[in-house]
Amino acid sequence: MSLQDNFRKAMRSYVYSVSILSNVSEKNEHHAITVSSVTSVSIDPPSILVCINKSAGIHDTIKIGTRFCINLLTKNHEDLSNVCSSYKEEKNRFTSDQWDLSGIPFLKDAQANIFCEVDELVEYHTHTIVIGKVFESSNRDTINTLTYVDGSYA
Ligand SMILES: Cc1cc2nc3c(=O)[nH]c(=O)nc-3n(C[C@H](O)[C@H](O)[C@H](O)COP(=O)(O)O)c2cc1C
Repeated sequence: MSLQDNFRKAMRSYVYSVSILSNVSEKNEHHAITVSSVTSVSIDPPSILVCINKSAGIHDTIKIGTRFCINLLTKNHEDLSNVCSSYKEEKNRFTSDQWDLSGIPFLKDAQANIFCEVDELVEYHTHTIVIGKVFESSNRDTINTLTYVDGSYA
């Protein structure tokens, strides 16, 4: 097996939490993408990073100073996770009334909502590492986080 195959296999062994990154573009269009690459960077300042493929529809709307929400999903959000990770479902991403679309779009019934402003963008080959400064954060006390391992929801 090649190095890339071995690496892919190793990464599939990780258990990921699944989130949807959502924002509204300068053209006033709503965007959402399923992501597992979210991690905290620091507590002071409160900050996170997320890696976004340059080919993703949302990629070019993520600019320094723009705002977005990381919606940590619950086990009830498997369908929405699929909708936001399938190009064919692009039109259906915001049809559910689970969304609050009054400002930065966010999921009302998420495990957690972490609102960020883009502070730094680091380009790395196929991806951009987005560093977001957190300006608001809320969560549910009962943990029911949607997880993903070896290519399936766990
Ligand atoms: C569980 C899961 C995690 C994902 N994590 C990421 C991620 O961290 N970054 C990324 O760019 N794409 C990630 N993807 C792939 C995107 O969700 C998918 O390619 C999406 O369709 C891209 O958006 P678009 O259809 O609007 O172009 C993930 C997909 C799944 C199912």
